[in-house]
Amino acid sequence: MPWDELKPRQFPAFDVELDGISRQTMEDHYKLYEGYAKKANECRRILNEFDYSEIEGNQVYSDLRAVSIDYTFALLGFKNHDLYFGHLGGEGGEPEGRFAELVEAEFNGVEKWQRAVKKAASSARGWVMVGYDLNDGSVFNYIMDTQNLWAVYNMCPVLAIDVYEHAYVRDFGATPDGRKQYVEAFFRNLDWDHVNRQLAQAEAAKHGADESGAREAPEFAPATG
Ligand SMILES: [Fe+2]
Repeated sequence: MPWDELKPRQFPAFDVELDGISRQTMEDHYKLYEGYAKKANECRRILNEFDYSEIEGNQVYSDLRAVSIDYTFALLGFKNHDLYFGHLGGEGGEPEGRFAELVEAEFNGVEKWQRAVKKAASSARGWVMVGYDLNDGSVFNYIMDTQNLWAVYNMCPVLAIDVYEHAYVRDFGATPDGRKQYVEAFFRNLDWDHVNRQLAQAEAAKHGADESGAREAPEFAPATG
């Protein structure tokens, strides 16, 4: 399927008053998301249009290198916010459904996961991604320092906490305590149904791969002489 331009989506979170996160913060934040879509499209278009028979490949500096790297920043800026806005506007409360089952098993209790994810939010410079691993089916909290740094392969984000200052400074101030208050507000507005929909997609992808035999180890045939 060929690449198609990214288009910013509309989200139910913008049709309701969030608890603690102001409309102005959300509207300003949405402009960043639109900017990431625009720049991701621009980078992808440039990468598609390069003349690869002529263009320089250079690891110190080259147009190809610069645009390739910035493309990942813009693209994940789009994807990260797509999930973030998608699961705001809910009723909050305790983790529910399949997500609660998985973190209960993984973290030996939902409360321990809650403590862990909030500490991760104090330790990250950009994002905390709670992700489902397509290889082993585990759920874990991953810290990302920027839009595109420290994500790991085959981790499907199911819950995304934006801890860049733009997400909370207007409403809570630029202090560690302000960030903690924002993270509490984030969870008060979280739509657990959306988290569980993300998780259902990820589990279905793993199931599909398992069924196709993609996870099976190659048969080991002992040497015969
Ligand atoms: Fe953001």
